[in-house]
Amino acid sequence: MCEINGISVKDIIKEHGSPLYLYDAEYIRRQYKKLTEEFSEFKHRIHYAMKANENPAILYIIKDLGGGIDAVSPYEIDRALNLGFQQSDIVFTPSCTSVNELVYGIEVGVNVHIGAVEYFPLLGDRLKDKCIGLRLNPSIDIKGNKKIATAHSNSKFGIPLRDLNKVKKYQDKYGFKVKGLHIHTGSNVKDVDDLNKSVAVLFDVVSQFEGVEYIDIGSGLKIKYRTGDGEIDLEKYAAHIKSKLYSLNKDIEIKIEPGKFLVGNAGYLFTSVNIVKKGYEKTFVGVDSGFNHLIRPMYYDAYHEIENVSNPGGEIEVYDVVGQLCEEDTFARDRQLNKVRVGDVLMIKSAGAYGFSMAMDYNLRKKPKELLIDRGNIMLI
Ligand SMILES: Cc1ncc(COP(=O)(O)O)c(C=O)c1O
Repeated sequence: MCEINGISVKDIIKEHGSPLYLYDAEYIRRQYKKLTEEFSEFKHRIHYAMKANENPAILYIIKDLGGGIDAVSPYEIDRALNLGFQQSDIVFTPSCTSVNELVYGIEVGVNVHIGAVEYFPLLGDRLKDKCIGLRLNPSIDIKGNKKIATAHSNSKFGIPLRDLNKVKKYQDKYGFKVKGLHIHTGSNVKDVDDLNKSVAVLFDVVSQFEGVEYIDIGSGLKIKYRTGDGEIDLEKYAAHIKSKLYSLNKDIEIKIEPGKFLVGNAGYLFTSVNIVKKGYEKTFVGVDSGFNHLIRPMYYDAYHEIENVSNPGGEIEVYDVVGQLCEEDTFARDRQLNKVRVGDVLMIKSAGAYGFSMAMDYNLRKKPKELLIDRGNIMLI
């Protein structure tokens, strides 16, 4: 049976049972380092998008590395503050939230990004002398999964560029300063040129506001979900940002908000086989998990590699891997796996981001345990 960082998966499952999530701390550190090295030629700050995986143990790893947080709710802000992140470490970019939540962010002192001009009159004098950021909608259509595209003209996210004049009028009226400009193009963006187009829009807007201190380029950093998949071309991305900064010639910090780039491939979901059943045409492998634990395949049609770690030498057969919820609940269709038997353990890969954090108690089934492997130790987190 397979090993992760020298620890046998069989021993882990024997001790902790299944289903369970397992994360590799060292992988997260490596990804963080990769990003800081590529961005080393300009002032930058990594704000981990904690929505990807908000487990405190993961957040501590980010904190130790010197990273900040991208939060999208007051609950995420509170968790980050409770773990010792400072207000200035946190950017807060909620979507279509209540005015009260924005006021909370402003009062608590984090970097609030406002994503609609309609908020300004509702916030009114509470904005006086405050520094805020603007989340813009650059109207960019990206290649790839439309369900995770957030910068096109029909997306609910961000302020349309045509409304920038209105922002300036509200600025005069309510007396706030625009300290930051933000975009988030989407998740897992296939083509780095799409990200670069979005970044260019931000750079075009900077000169329209006096005193912008940072440009937050969001995320969208593509990761490998399957063999043969490409990763984001970080070198090209960083070179583009560098050239834009050079032309702008202002002291601006670049903020970036990776989620899945840091934790996606650090995580695995292990699940045991309850039943192998033959349908009319297909053979189904029914496992002790479902979209209540990992919703990405059902919600985003996401592809996750699966391995039968109990029978790596078994003959290859074709299966649909399905969960135990009383719903259409499919992890993979027509997937080649080494022969699967009742009791075998399947490893679902790339499950570190938007796995546990999107898990739920549907059918009153419990969420999986989460374990972290770090420096040869395995911890329940
Ligand atoms: C505003 C914002 N920033 C960052 C992220 C992180 O994206 P990813 O996990 O693709 O890196 C998201 C995720 O959707 C987001 O909405």
